[in-house]
Amino acid sequence: MRRIGWWFRDRVAERPAWMNALMLFAAVEVFAYSPWDLFCKSVDVDQDVWLGLVLTGLPAKAGGILHWAVYALGLYGFLRMRRWMWPWASIYVAQVAFAMLVWPISHVGGARGWILGVVSSAAIGAVAVALWRARNLFSVRSLASPQRYGKWAVVTGASAGIGLEFARALAARGFSCVLCARREDRLHAIAKELVATYGVDARVVVVDLAHPDGPDFLANEVADLEVGMLVSNAGVGYAGAFEKQNLARLCEMVALNCTANVALVSRLLGPMLERGSGAIVITGSVAGRQPVPYHAVYSATKGFELLFGEALWAELHDKGIDVLVVQPGPVATEFEAVAGEARAHPSADESAASVVASSLAALGHQPSVVTGWLNWMRANVGRFFPRSTVALIAADVMENQTPRNMR
Ligand SMILES: NC(=O)c1ccc[n+]([C@@H]2O[C@H](COP(=O)([O-])OP(=O)(O)OC[C@H]3O[C@@H](n4cnc5c(N)ncnc54)[C@H](OP(=O)(O)O)[C@@H]3O)[C@@H](O)[C@H]2O)c1
Repeated sequence: MRRIGWWFRDRVAERPAWMNALMLFAAVEVFAYSPWDLFCKSVDVDQDVWLGLVLTGLPAKAGGILHWAVYALGLYGFLRMRRWMWPWASIYVAQVAFAMLVWPISHVGGARGWILGVVSSAAIGAVAVALWRARNLFSVRSLASPQRYGKWAVVTGASAGIGLEFARALAARGFSCVLCARREDRLHAIAKELVATYGVDARVVVVDLAHPDGPDFLANEVADLEVGMLVSNAGVGYAGAFEKQNLARLCEMVALNCTANVALVSRLLGPMLERGSGAIVITGSVAGRQPVPYHAVYSATKGFELLFGEALWAELHDKGIDVLVVQPGPVATEFEAVAGEARAHPSADESAASVVASSLAALGHQPSVVTGWLNWMRANVGRFFPRSTVALIAADVMENQTPRNMR
């Protein structure tokens, strides 16, 4: 329980005491009062108040479900200090303040009703005003800086897609960047761009990380640098029915997506621990949260990255090292072409820049992040269904996205 205590202390320190009290209130509503109200109270005696209007019977039960959902959203929003909490939290509380004015006047009546209404609605109204004024607390507080972690960021897979955007975003924050991938010409062009645009240093390391010696080679090339952040992002997919896939290519994918991650973290973590600061970012995927037929080995590698990274997060949490597993859904990069996938609506893909923005906002605050709200819904809705159902639905969807010769 020691680590839970530290985690809780860190969470509580993120917001003022009055907001922690609101979060606690939301937790009591979600886990105790609302379930009791919904499932234990008989319909005949149930009452629910919205804007001072008292609902009874079945409408009260329906209102209770809505209350439950509102408090659950509020609890999550306070816990993660989500931007969307402003302004709806203050508007919701203002609605409660209004109800607390109307209800005693109309139901208690007389001078007592007026006093009760004015006093309680003034107190709750003050909370609504405080929430309205707390807008800045609900903004993204990114911790990713060279001052916190160290001067250099090593970015693998920096020649394209998400890795390229990581390099740009980190350089914009003042990190000097080590750019790693196989395509040398691209890496040099990007290094030139970062130096010219952001005035940082850049180093190019041309390396095949699927090769058994690749991770060691990269670690030796950066041994003279203060590496503050490792972005272990290089990865490939490979679409197709398992029996039609080439074993050598599958093993190469496992070497890149799994082994290289472990080897790089193992080699670069030591100096971070000595300094007591550093960050490790691993690009996983929402494909790592559930079985993905026709991408069976790929999704397994992404599941490996998720469990590896989240476990490291807990191990290193109190040692000054932040770990984050980034889990994007479909992103507009070269990934799909390399994997040999044929998706129906690639125009709906998230941009690599948006994936990176969400990642840098989440780093230091949580062990993993699903980027984009639609991906978050997709990634979590499966939890409520049997694993067999999830796998079979995914098989139908993914079969359609696989070229005919690979089905
Ligand atoms: N795009 C998506 O829809 C999506 C969704 C979820 C997760 N992801 C994950 O995001 C990460 C980045 O993918 P991306 O979308 O940015 O794809 P991308 O545009 O294809 O970029 C992949 C990067 O990895 C590098 N790379 C590939 N094989 C390598 C090897 N053997 N050694 C060293 N570098 C290698 C590539 O550079 P070179 O070819 O120059 O070596 C490139 O820089 C991957 O881990 C992927 O699984 C992508």
